[in-house]
Amino acid sequence: MTKVLDIKANEKNFFELKEYIDSVKGAKGSLMQVLHKAQDIFGYLPIEVQKYISTELGVPLAEVYGVATFYTQFSINPKGKHKIGVCLGTACYVKGSQLIMDKLSKELNIKVGQTTEDNLFTLEATRCLGCCGLAPVMMIDQDVYGKLEPNRIPEILEKYK
Ligand code: FES
Repeated sequence: MTKVLDIKANEKNFFELKEYIDSVKGAKGSLMQVLHKAQDIFGYLPIEVQKYISTELGVPLAEVYGVATFYTQFSINPKGKHKIGVCLGTACYVKGSQLIMDKLSKELNIKVGQTTEDNLFTLEATRCLGCCGLAPVMMIDQDVYGKLEPNRIPEILEKYK
């Protein structure tokens, strides 16, 4: 389900964004800078914010959307309170991280890149987390879980509820 941004409740945020847009308008690379700023302010880049940027910056909405969805540092969906990152790097993959991902997806009833309805968890795939000896690995916020097996997932998720 798509969540609609409450524009009234975000008036201050739009004002802050407008000030920033005015300060970089016309400069080279300003769209990227504005998208970064908007994500800092709103936490993500909902369509209402993309439309606003398009109008204020004078850039077609298709271009704003294209950039916002191309780069992984941007998100057009709200992030949950806890971010789960499952490593799909080679070492983790061969040790079954896809099974971990599938189990998380089933338990949380979301796909990769999505956030649960209660905004508690966002599920993401990551590259190598630098602890391949613990494969398969996932991170929840700053916590690292290694040598995972799918049946441990429910008990781990419980700690964050
Ligand atoms: S491949 Fe997963 S931690 Fe390196």
